[in-house]
Amino acid sequence: FPLTATDTPSTPEKIAGIHADPGFGVYFTDHMAVATWRKDGGWSDDAVVPYGPFQLDPSTAVLHYAQEVFEGLKAYRHADGSIWLFRPERNAERLNASARRLMLPELPVDDFLTSIEELVTVDAAWVPDAHGGEASLYLRPFMFANESFLGVRAAHQVTYSVIASPVGPYFAGGVKPVNIWVTDAYSRAGKGGTGAAKCGGNYASSLIAQYEGAEHGCSQVLFADAGTGVNTEELGGMNIMVVTAGGELITPALTGTILEGVTRDSILTMAGELGLTPVARPVTLAEIFERIDSGDIVEAFACGTAAVLTPVAEFRSHQGNHVIGDEPGPRTMQIRSAILDVQYGRADDVHGWLRRV
Ligand code: COI
Repeated sequence: FPLTATDTPSTPEKIAGIHADPGFGVYFTDHMAVATWRKDGGWSDDAVVPYGPFQLDPSTAVLHYAQEVFEGLKAYRHADGSIWLFRPERNAERLNASARRLMLPELPVDDFLTSIEELVTVDAAWVPDAHGGEASLYLRPFMFANESFLGVRAAHQVTYSVIASPVGPYFAGGVKPVNIWVTDAYSRAGKGGTGAAKCGGNYASSLIAQYEGAEHGCSQVLFADAGTGVNTEELGGMNIMVVTAGGELITPALTGTILEGVTRDSILTMAGELGLTPVARPVTLAEIFERIDSGDIVEAFACGTAAVLTPVAEFRSHQGNHVIGDEPGPRTMQIRSAILDVQYGRADDVHGWLRRV
């Protein structure tokens, strides 16, 4: 991914102004990585170029049949100024797993890592200081069918790209606990569907349920399995976990319909070190709600790269509400700090999860 054609980089003043109030996914850096795949030649034309629009023919396949996958990861600035990625190989592998499901080409893991490292290096000034909390550079690798053709088949030409956005907390309230809408009208993914793939279509189909939730004061939606509606799956854009009074950390097991979150996996791995017992198994909605109502589930949180850990205040549904509380729970905050401390270099990286840019 050689740097081609530099433009005038943003001034330090402009970047500082954006860092002061970045929001999430609003501002983008000066460059982007791109590469093209052709059925008859494989990957080529890899480059880091000035950030700017793609020119797409109106018949470009992705605009019609949504053959697209993406990833999300962050670059973190440590106190000494160095810049680090968190488990980026996992994102590379998941991108390829998603690509296989959507019949897009796989990108070699090394090329994925290089694309990100070259982009972050060129745009290093855009990686914010930690600001004591969780400011970072959000990286969005994505791949889409870029062929002008309306026949329904796997595209013969594909674009891979990485863009980068300085971000603060995903939820505007930061760690303020959020309400979760439990939809019984919609499901996210069915058996054999695309639930385990990180494809844009999954997020498009979650929107209607999320908006239904917004009408009930909720900022995320919780989906049950499409088959029975009994088992808990995941939220619109992140995984869900609950903590019991006895110290169990419970999350739905991967079933092929749930996204295999990197944050989810990291939390399960760290749980034992924090005195919690990690449990990934089928979890019914009924179990969660009964155990909240009886006081046996004491905390719940959403987790993902974008959200880190965001506490849940209450689950709301047409059948009633199940209230945990307005204050972030101590276990949630303990896990949250533990993972952020690794990401920002404030704790030993005992698992070897960090990769220096
Ligand atoms: C993430 O990066 O955590 C996502 O899943 C994407 C989206 C919710 C912003």
